Amino acid sequence: MRIIVDAAIEKKETKDLFGIFFEDLNHAADGGLYGELVRNRSFEFATVDHPDYHSLTAWEKIEGDGAVKLITETGYPVDSHNPHYLIMDIYKPGLDAGVQNVGWGSGIPLKEGCIYYFTCYARREQDRTEPITVSLRSQSGKVYETSEIIISDTWKKYELQFRSPVTDNSARLAITSKGSGKVYLDFVSLFPADTYKGRKNGVRRDIAELLEQMHPKFMRFPGGCLVHDGSLNPDDRDSMYRWKNTIGPVESRPARRNNWGYNQTLGLGFYELFLLSEDIGAKPLPVIAAGYDPHHKREVPLNEMQPWIDDALDLIEFANGSQETKWGSIRAEMGHPEPFHMEYLGIGNEEVGEGFFERFEIIYHAVRRKHPEIKVIGTSGPNAAGSEFERGWESGRRNGVEFVDEHYYQSPEWFLANHHRYDSYPGDGPKVFLGEYASWGNTWYNALTEASFMTGLERNAHAVGLACYAPLLAHIDYVNWKPDMIWYNNHKSYGTPNYYVQKMFMNHQGKYQLHHEMEDIPDNEILSDTERIAGRIILCDYESEVTYTDITLMNEDTKETMAFEDCRIDLDSGKEIILTETDCQNYTLCLKAVETEGYRGFRIRFGSKDSDNEYCWTLGGWQNQDTFIGEKINGKNSDLSQCLLTVEKNRTYDLRLEVRGRRIKTYVDNALYHDTESKPVIIEPLYFSAQESEKGGLIIKAVNVSEKAVKASICIRGMDALENKELEAVCMEGWEPDAVNSITSPDMVSPGIKKVKVTLPEFQFELPGRSIYIFHTNG
Ligand code: AHR
Repeated sequence: MRIIVDAAIEKKETKDLFGIFFEDLNHAADGGLYGELVRNRSFEFATVDHPDYHSLTAWEKIEGDGAVKLITETGYPVDSHNPHYLIMDIYKPGLDAGVQNVGWGSGIPLKEGCIYYFTCYARREQDRTEPITVSLRSQSGKVYETSEIIISDTWKKYELQFRSPVTDNSARLAITSKGSGKVYLDFVSLFPADTYKGRKNGVRRDIAELLEQMHPKFMRFPGGCLVHDGSLNPDDRDSMYRWKNTIGPVESRPARRNNWGYNQTLGLGFYELFLLSEDIGAKPLPVIAAGYDPHHKREVPLNEMQPWIDDALDLIEFANGSQETKWGSIRAEMGHPEPFHMEYLGIGNEEVGEGFFERFEIIYHAVRRKHPEIKVIGTSGPNAAGSEFERGWESGRRNGVEFVDEHYYQSPEWFLANHHRYDSYPGDGPKVFLGEYASWGNTWYNALTEASFMTGLERNAHAVGLACYAPLLAHIDYVNWKPDMIWYNNHKSYGTPNYYVQKMFMNHQGKYQLHHEMEDIPDNEILSDTERIAGRIILCDYESEVTYTDITLMNEDTKETMAFEDCRIDLDSGKEIILTETDCQNYTLCLKAVETEGYRGFRIRFGSKDSDNEYCWTLGGWQNQDTFIGEKINGKNSDLSQCLLTVEKNRTYDLRLEVRGRRIKTYVDNALYHDTESKPVIIEPLYFSAQESEKGGLIIKAVNVSEKAVKASICIRGMDALENKELEAVCMEGWEPDAVNSITSPDMVSPGIKKVKVTLPEFQFELPGRSIYIFHTNG
């Protein structure tokens, strides 16, 4: 095949195309990126965070030869935003009585020779005189380092510094005291001095360096569902993420429930996230909620939107305002007099339904009026297509937002089948912000298919403005969501193959996308039936007791109709009824369905080869709020279409599924819900994209997903200055599709540099099977 890159034909600016998305799930903040080593430092863990949590979670008694009672109370706190504190009541004095913190994962990680900063607030009962002893210890109680503090009877902040004589990844931080009586403790903290860029209240160096090394153009934060799941009152313990709660002195930031089932100290708050963006060279892209919680159907009355408008406007002032402004001065006080140069603002994350969009518009217009310079990002829900996706785009176009946020987590094959998704997107109107996407898995094959898709994002720079893989971080001991780009335990981290693909693309983001044409293209590899969706048709319950009646299946080509007996599926019986197996190209299934017990609805599986390769029409999906068409390939799901629908109990629904080739339409009570196409899975001979770099150099990305090698001749036109220049290549190749990285093999699947002697303007190259090559001129 021959590929002609022509720089003389219209160039599209790629601007800030590839960035990253930080959300605090999988303990991405506390216990992850945030440098704090003490878990539950201010005794605020509670059942609202997690059913197993309490104010002493992660704290243990030490009763060597004394005895101690540990109690938490709220009467006289250091800061009313964090009301709980610990009373260490030593009722039997001894040499070793007190409390220790177990940290995250295996414990507190100490590195030989490294410095650790200890701080805490403490006071004592009036007539107690014994000092407190702070020590770093092993899990079995061996004391590594120790220091004493004489404390007074009013709250005061105490600070110590330790140098660890050992490396121990399961250490403990202990506070003990001789003599009887009560010691009060709050805000007990231990930070390594060696944080990223040595910042106080900083982030873990190894993880931040992995981020920095990607060279992301932007960083989206803080979520995700984290943003919008919570109560509407910012003072509630389970409030939504409100950025004003996350700034100022850490002691005054209120602990909040994290919607992923744990506690967030908010120590890594908006200030730190802006700073981290700056430190890693990424533009900050904050996302705020719009007074609408789709998880609990909470919405702010429309006439009470002012605080939400203020949150948006004040945030812009906090990020960009001068030191003379109210919020700009708070930023300056926190240590950053210069503005953070925020350009982007996301309003909402994945919300669906009219209620959200009414509220979105109120905030959006207020931002638009006061800050026309800010590029606003609207949302199109959690799915790649369907009526809510369309609603988001319609709102975006009507309101003139700069970007619409799309999210999808799909099978690797979906990414291959939908490589041309953005070819037909218009170049005018809002651009796509692909704010969350990933194929299901962290294998080399996942990464390879994502790389092929990313060349499509680049090629369509006219329509796609920003894109970031999700989620970013996961602690191997606290997993909410898989796959994730970077994994870590309490002391080591590693990038997945997906990370290295992202990194390669970000390290070689050009300034302009160049036009290319392909000639003499070999045939595609076809991995699925291109004509039909054939297989078994299976009726199922969906955590419900269901009766199906009036069931018919018509072959639309022969008009032959089969009728089936009525059937009932009991609640939790797990029973499913295989109606038949069809290899028709065009067929219509009609049936009536009623749910008599349960709370969700119906599932009709079709085109089923086996339970890992099939389609499913779900009615009463996510919290019984939607219907979707799912496609499963090799056990990995993709949502092809989503619409709102709540299944009511004891109501009979008239359902119709029409399959015409690979097009799927569904009707409920004769109203069209889904109209979607399952694109056949094909592997193209080569996925390709070319850019001009900032300095006028050339970048060529070539991805071969097939296991067979492919030969290509690449011809560059319109870049005369590059005549006879040599190209280097960075590449990934040579692993089995299921290869992964791990804590013990952190970079088994990672790029290598190749000195390939290819000269411009035309060169031949053979790309090995399953490989990614990025050729580039130096500079
Ligand atoms: O990335 C994980 C979650 O997926 C995000 O919080 C949410 O936006 C999406 O549903």
